[in-house]
Amino acid sequence: MNINIELRIIQAVWFILPAYIANLTPVNVSRIKELEKYGKPIDFGKSWGGVRILGDGKTWRGLFSGVAAGTIIGLIQSTIHSDITEFLRDISNDASIILPRMSVELAFMLSLGALFGDMVASFVKRRTGLKRGDPAPLLDQLDFVFGAFFFAWLLNPVYLDYDRFFVVVVITPMIHVLTNFLAYLWKLKKHPW
Ligand code: CTP
Ligand code: MG
Repeated sequence: MNINIELRIIQAVWFILPAYIANLTPVNVSRIKELEKYGKPIDFGKSWGGVRILGDGKTWRGLFSGVAAGTIIGLIQSTIHSDITEFLRDISNDASIILPRMSVELAFMLSLGALFGDMVASFVKRRTGLKRGDPAPLLDQLDFVFGAFFFAWLLNPVYLDYDRFFVVVVITPMIHVLTNFLAYLWKLKKHPW
């Protein structure tokens, strides 16, 4: 196991980046007025046992834009892979450093998995009586991580690297708290949470 913590974080973020992008795209796309007509709910407004299957917070627009954005990021990553590797080797003076390979197929699966995980979480939230937008701490922050690793594993089991999975599970809620706090400092948000 690699004990260099900064390098482990960089490698983990590089791997999971398409899922991060896929996860943060839908909420931003939902603010674009021109795309409102594509905001049909994925569950088509249907209920099961008196409660919505997924709810109005899961739209086709979000699904498509998230998968597209994450896949494009993966394409960019795969083209700059060797340059970034070289850059990391230069600044660290360590020629043995490697970055996980990114491919369009992997980025697509990570992105689709991220949005699938997010949908599963909404399904669970509706079943347990939580309304759209109600907070479910940790589930809200990690649903997409589980989905992304699961879909990557479906593509090829080697992608489920437990060490990397652990790093992502630990840093993702921390990044979430940190970015919310920064957004609060920059007055983009009313509350620091
Ligand atoms: N969003 C979307 N389509 C998706 C996922 C998210 O359009 N597949 C948009 C919605 O506008 C949603 C917002 O991003 O309200 C924030 O996403 P999220 O927090 O996942 O949804 P919630 O509204 O909180 O709903 P839920 O309680 O089901 O998680
Ligand atoms: Mg939410």
